[in-house]
Amino acid sequence: MTSQKNKYYLTTSIPYANAKPHLGHAMEFIQADTLARWHRQLGDEVYFQIGTDEHGQKLFEAAEKAGAELLSFVNEMSESFVQLARDLNVDYDAFVRTTDEHHKKGAQALWRACEKDIYKGTYTGLYCVACELFYTSKDAVEGMCPVHPNRALEELAIESYFLKLSPYQDKLIDLIENDEYRVFPDLRKNEILSFLRNNKLEDLSISRPKSQLAWGVEVPGDDTHVMYVWFDALANYITGVGYPDEPEFNKWWPADLHIVGKDINRFHSVYWPVMLMSAGVTLPKALYVHGFINAPGGVKMSKSLGNAIGPDEILERYGADALRYYLLRYIPHDSDGEFGLERFHTVYTADLVNNLGNLVQRVASMTVKYCDGKFEPIVEVRKPKLTGLGDAGFDDELQAIWKQLDSLNEAIDKSEPWKLAKTDLTATTKLLDNWISEIIQLSVSLTAFMPFTAEKIHRIFSDGRVDMRSGMLFPRIEKED
Ligand code: MSP
Repeated sequence: MTSQKNKYYLTTSIPYANAKPHLGHAMEFIQADTLARWHRQLGDEVYFQIGTDEHGQKLFEAAEKAGAELLSFVNEMSESFVQLARDLNVDYDAFVRTTDEHHKKGAQALWRACEKDIYKGTYTGLYCVACELFYTSKDAVEGMCPVHPNRALEELAIESYFLKLSPYQDKLIDLIENDEYRVFPDLRKNEILSFLRNNKLEDLSISRPKSQLAWGVEVPGDDTHVMYVWFDALANYITGVGYPDEPEFNKWWPADLHIVGKDINRFHSVYWPVMLMSAGVTLPKALYVHGFINAPGGVKMSKSLGNAIGPDEILERYGADALRYYLLRYIPHDSDGEFGLERFHTVYTADLVNNLGNLVQRVASMTVKYCDGKFEPIVEVRKPKLTGLGDAGFDDELQAIWKQLDSLNEAIDKSEPWKLAKTDLTATTKLLDNWISEIIQLSVSLTAFMPFTAEKIHRIFSDGRVDMRSGMLFPRIEKED
């Protein structure tokens, strides 16, 4: 009998290739990878796509500042995201680059498909280069960008193509309200619904004259314009799976989930669905919007403030699973969270070295000591339940797993097997068998979150014999001054 697998297509946003990755990018990769791995464990056929956003003013400026040729600059930056994914053990299926020919052609096809809602006009507005976005005077904070307080908004009048949004406004409200396009958590859904209910959508400027910026995808039929970087970038979700005419497209699209941060919610819950409706393409099923990682005290992390921590230094010292664990457990899935080295170190020692690591270590060594390393292998390994992951509840699920680890540690302390072994070896063996079986079950649940650790636990307890050759799960690490 063959069973039909469910397909599951999920994406992260595609970070700008204008600088090296930071912790926020790492978190998004890790969240998505956890969901991808969980769906694979459930037996779904998964397609997991990441990539880099390589056009636009911001990119152009960054390359110029670095004194680099554009394409070699984006190649290098894009490669640093590939490397980050590798270092984090992110098991993606596809990496889209918006400078790829295939992507550019697909973005042009999408433009053509939207043509009945596109017209040429003049745009005058206040522009922030860092956001790649026009703001209204209502948004501006004393002439400065609301997101980048040290960047003055520039007044610009440009010839531009526009996409009509308002014909789709009511339909969009309906779709989001009824979760046909499910935006979650609720806070983000409500934010977007109240924006849509209280504002008439203005037409979106979707091109730039080449004279102003040539680094982009050419507008089909007009070689004097390139696409606005967001039109080009959003298209990656469909071009990556073969839009417009590869058979793969029908297999994978619509996406089951897009994962993005709160600052780009509107692009994904308003502009993207309108582009798709205009083009007659089915909407994605869901959008998960995560919060931001801040420095301790809730301050924004930024290079210029000197409080930004790169993923590299943490990965080198503590390894991928430790970072995965921290970001998934201690950055709340539905709001902002904080990251500081001090707290990270404390968590590493308490939760990983002293709790999980020590549990595995002592159960394994007692089995070696009292049972000659042998145990009764468990017959059936259950699939992980983790139903909270349907709402991206990484933090809640990990908390529940750690509660079980606490109980196991307590049960061991209470039954004092080191004493029992002196009088009743059969009872001790039974206890150890049970604990090993529980640890194996827990490691199945941990697989999606911490794949290296889960694999190591499996190696230690496989085939009825303890194998401790792969060493400790989490070495004790001295705190750095
Ligand atoms: N290029 C666009 C996305 C285009 S998607 C079609 C972009 N790039 S970005 O590099 O600025 O951001 C990439 C992702 O990182 C976004 O989801 C963003 O919200 C997220 N983060 C950026 N800073 C962050 C934190 N400090 N914390 C958590 N995530 C953050 O936007």
